[in-house]
Amino acid sequence: MPTPSEPVGLTTDPPIRVRALGQPDNDQLVDLLLAIPDGEHLFVKHDISRPEAVTAWLNDTTAHWEGAFNGSDLVGAVAVVPGEGWSSHVGELRMVVHPNHRRAGIGACLANEALIEAINAGFVVVTVQALAEQTGVLKLFRGLGFVPEALLTDHVREPNGQLHDLVVLSHSVQAAAERLQLMGETT
Ligand SMILES: CC(C)(COP(=O)(O)OP(=O)(O)OC[C@H]1O[C@@H](n2cnc3c(N)ncnc32)[C@H](O)[C@@H]1OP(=O)(O)O)[C@@H](O)C(=O)NCCC(=O)NCCS
Repeated sequence: MPTPSEPVGLTTDPPIRVRALGQPDNDQLVDLLLAIPDGEHLFVKHDISRPEAVTAWLNDTTAHWEGAFNGSDLVGAVAVVPGEGWSSHVGELRMVVHPNHRRAGIGACLANEALIEAINAGFVVVTVQALAEQTGVLKLFRGLGFVPEALLTDHVREPNGQLHDLVVLSHSVQAAAERLQLMGETT
């Protein structure tokens, strides 16, 4: 199993540690995704209502997963999912934090870890998608240097048929590398 990071700069007790997720973390990842309220499943895009669907996603070796651990508990996860064909240089970031552990900085920390992973993996651009009404999520990513690129009207449809506008934000990996280097997060 990968070695956890040094505690990240958060004031939780026990401190949060981030490391790559692998097969042994499958059950905890299933539990984390199943704890996400129904309305938020839209953000994850995959069908996460069944444990076997989560397992298949974790087994998809093209996506790189990182997890945030509070002690031994997985409290947040982020995946960088590569685009296909002519977009294979673009990584899409998908992230969740357990509802009981939000607003403690874990999401921002995981997003930074995902950007470092994207730099190391050779991506050129990282994108993230959020609903236009999720102003808190947009604030989080804008604070990390992501720029809104597109507003796609009615591009998200819930199982009950309700439509939502989708915002696509992107971040140049080069710019992310420079920012993280300035912050001392990378060398
Ligand atoms: C988005 C998400 C991952 C954020 O995780 P988090 O650990 O709560 O985020 P952080 O604590 O790092 O937030 C950092 C900053 O972003 C902003 N922010 C984050 N969530 C916010 C919210 N719900 N409302 C308002 N501002 C918010 C705030 O400025 C916050 O700083 P502050 O708490 O000091 O004010 C979490 O809400 C989640 O899992 N949501 C469901 C899935 C999702 O929407 N994923 C994003 C698209 S892939």
